[in-house]
Amino acid sequence: MSKIVVVNGSARIKGNTMSMVKVFEEQMRKMDPSVEFEYIHLIQKNFGYCLSCNQCLLKGPDQCLNRDDAREILEKMHSADGLVFASPGYGAMVSALFKNLLDRFMYLDHMVEFEGVPAVIISTSGGDGVTGAPKYMADRAIRWWGCNIIDKIGIGHAFYVMNEKSKAKGNKRLEKAAISMLKEIEAEKPMKPTFLSYMYFIFNKTEGEVSPSAQPARYEHWVYRGWFNKSYYYDTKINIFYKMLGKFFNVTMKFVFKLLLGKDADQKLGAWTHNNY
Ligand SMILES: Cc1cc2nc3c(=O)[nH]c(=O)nc-3n(C[C@H](O)[C@H](O)[C@H](O)COP(=O)(O)O)c2cc1C
Repeated sequence: MSKIVVVNGSARIKGNTMSMVKVFEEQMRKMDPSVEFEYIHLIQKNFGYCLSCNQCLLKGPDQCLNRDDAREILEKMHSADGLVFASPGYGAMVSALFKNLLDRFMYLDHMVEFEGVPAVIISTSGGDGVTGAPKYMADRAIRWWGCNIIDKIGIGHAFYVMNEKSKAKGNKRLEKAAISMLKEIEAEKPMKPTFLSYMYFIFNKTEGEVSPSAQPARYEHWVYRGWFNKSYYYDTKINIFYKMLGKFFNVTMKFVFKLLLGKDADQKLGAWTHNNY
């Protein structure tokens, strides 16, 4: 039995955003009635703001100064075969509730834990800026966490409700995402990374190689997972052109760091992070 966990950044648990997620859920249930859906409504959680203590990257996420529902949220997310991230669009951005999730779990950008987990992004706005929030959610955050982005969907809710064609188009998009997500969950191996996902891996790896002392907990996580010696977070075939570009990026980034900070770049960056927090 597959499990989908929905992380909802809308304050209205029966609002427009959740109504779109329900279309996604219905489609998935049509294909596989045994699929379990669990909802994490952030508005109902005790989930404080990020205090910028940086303990997550220096000492580990358990050292966070906040003592609240973060661990419970994370554990629920880890119980999923597929993740849905949902937020209304506010000024072409995510809601503050959802942004706080990204701030609190910022360490996941570097200490990746969700490698290979398929994720669908769903956002609604009134009508304008529909692509801003889902793009931000996918490419500035969830992809960094190692998730494979199955689709990022932005729907103008006013048009969806008032125009039959818009509604049909929106539903089709949501249904297609549900089909693709289920297919990915049922696949034997996680999908090959896209170029962007691969480059995020290379960026993370290079940053860790350049400065182990800047973020010790992150460095240890990478050593523990063996990623410094791997070509991706999980065993998969990497496109040869991606590999060539990745190598070029790795060498160039190291060169630029040395050029800007000198041979003792690691010590300097380490001192900066420790003195700064
Ligand atoms: C603070 C705030 C900012 C918003 N900004 C925009 C916007 O920039 N563009 C837009 O089309 N709709 C905007 N809206 C409308 C919501 O995006 C829209 O109604 C959405 O579907 C609400 O989702 P919900 O029912 O899940 O809360 C805004 C709403 C709020 C409350």
